[in-house]
Amino acid sequence: MTPIAALTSGGDAPGMNTAIRALVKAAARAGVEVFGVHSGYDGLIDGRASVLHPRDVDDIGSYGGTVLGSVRSARFRTPEGRAQAARWLNGRPLVVIGGNGSLAGAHALAVEHGVQVIGLPASIDNDIGCTGLAIGVDTALNTIVEAADRIADTARAHQRAFILEVMGRQCGYLAMAAAVAAGADACLYRESGRPADEVIAALTALLDRSFGGERPKRKVLVLKAEGVQIPTTALVDRLQEHLAVTRPGVDCRATVLGHVVRGGSPSYQDRMIAGRLAIGAIEALRAGATDEMIAWQPHTQGGTPTPDPSVRRFGLAQVLVETEALLDGTSAVTRRRVRMMEAYEGVLAV
Ligand code: F6P
Repeated sequence: MTPIAALTSGGDAPGMNTAIRALVKAAARAGVEVFGVHSGYDGLIDGRASVLHPRDVDDIGSYGGTVLGSVRSARFRTPEGRAQAARWLNGRPLVVIGGNGSLAGAHALAVEHGVQVIGLPASIDNDIGCTGLAIGVDTALNTIVEAADRIADTARAHQRAFILEVMGRQCGYLAMAAAVAAGADACLYRESGRPADEVIAALTALLDRSFGGERPKRKVLVLKAEGVQIPTTALVDRLQEHLAVTRPGVDCRATVLGHVVRGGSPSYQDRMIAGRLAIGAIEALRAGATDEMIAWQPHTQGGTPTPDPSVRRFGLAQVLVETEALLDGTSAVTRRRVRMMEAYEGVLAV
């Protein structure tokens, strides 16, 4: 097989380096050289790449970020940029490790220029269709749960309410999953479709119930996804106004975790998934597959099976359609997530 190129693109995710390591080693075992492309699609357009020897990547699996660097390339969104990238590839197959925008770019290269491309889903947001988990999600969740525990300590000490905002762009998965794991009192996510007034009314009622009665709580913790339209500061102001009247002395504070959630050494699960998906990518390329994503799907029958029972291959066109559906709420996966959260809501708020 001709040498392959690999790049990381979009928001970095813990486990990208583990995927690069596994990709290079699996390729080396098959006698294939890997060009690591620097700075995502920008690097592909400019031909900034160097051969990665297995020894170069032996130690990177535990690092957060991506040793190849990543950008959100505006140039690659133009037909000229993609044509230039395809020219540099010159028949080399490409592995793209990234989120939904990056996978859409990979699909465009395959369709417009016949590039043999395979995508690996990597994004903390877990907003990529056809994969149960993307690389980086588990580490991000561990970081959020640890931060929630720390916030809970200080909240309890002062008898406070906290809004903890977490990343996820348009997808509420991180907030939902972390809320259950951290035992939060409530979770706010865009997919619920609840208007701002209803959300505020529900939260003030939660504060009344939690801090009033015979056994007042010491803390109230609310996980909020960044996709929720009400700005966190505005929400805190409204709750603080309410508390000033109903519970003078009890305060509400906010913490926005932001990019903290993107960093850190990948967890066991992210390393394991990244490694197995990367091996699947090399197998797929060797089998002549193109315009596909390697997915972590231990419980689904869809897609093309691979020798790894938890790894399946899906066409990128199908992945992109399912990604849209995940975000606009029409996907069965989103509906299942929302139903799960609605079922938990009554429990969280007790
Ligand atoms: O897609 C990953 C992500 O971290 C989102 O959760 C977040 O909205 C966005 O990237 C932040 O992007 P940037 O790093 O460009 O600010």
